[in-house]
Amino acid sequence: MTLVAESRETSLSALLRSGSQAEHTAAEGSTFMSELLAGRIDGAGYAHFLGLLRRVYEALETTAAELAHDPVASAVVDPSIERLAAIDADLDHWGRVTVDSPATDAYVARIRASAAWGGLFVAHHYTRYLGDLSGGQAIGRIIGREFGLDGGVGTAFYSFENVPKPKLYKDAYRARLDALPLDDAGRLRVLDEVKAVFALNGGLFAEMTTHLDRYTR
Ligand code: HEM
Repeated sequence: MTLVAESRETSLSALLRSGSQAEHTAAEGSTFMSELLAGRIDGAGYAHFLGLLRRVYEALETTAAELAHDPVASAVVDPSIERLAAIDADLDHWGRVTVDSPATDAYVARIRASAAWGGLFVAHHYTRYLGDLSGGQAIGRIIGREFGLDGGVGTAFYSFENVPKPKLYKDAYRARLDALPLDDAGRLRVLDEVKAVFALNGGLFAEMTTHLDRYTR
């Protein structure tokens, strides 16, 4: 089935999920994520990575506030799942570093540009927060184990205090996506942006990979 035909027959949530499967697999297999989850990156490397993510979430959450009443973006915007405070709590543990990151600059610019249409912002929101509420839950546990952390110190980023049951939250999130009044072109535009967001995350991982020699343990 062509993508256009598929977009007519499936819900937006299913389209985004199936349409970005290849990109997801690539992200999962990235060298940086593999090394991190294998426990081969040291604390300084993780602090560097988290510092980059801080800039990403700052842009996401600033843009979300601007679009809180946008008819499309408001389907996903939810201050109760914001991550900036959790990232800051984690950085208190790992330490703050300021590093040049062209990959983060490009990602942040794309998030800011997504304010032009709520559907583009939905793509940014979906790709990060639904990922954090999915694979991110396991990733947080692995990082806690590999770094020998206790009691959630340093891994607040993965812990959604206001979401006791991620599955229920994700089901409701998908229902809100599916209720969006988007035509085929709009749905495909959201999917294209999701793929672009995966690529931007891949760019961030690739950039981290160039620093691996400094951070290997
Ligand atoms: C090692 C890295 C990763 C692992 C192990 C992982 C694992 C997973 C798993 C197990 C799911 C749940 C699939 C399901 O419910 O059937 C998931 C969903 C998801 N992941 Fe990842 N993931 C990783 C990286 C990423 C990255 C880097 C992103 C994006 C920045 C991402 C975005 C998503 C999204 C958006 C979903 C939800 C898909 C949907 O149900 O619509 N993941 N991931």
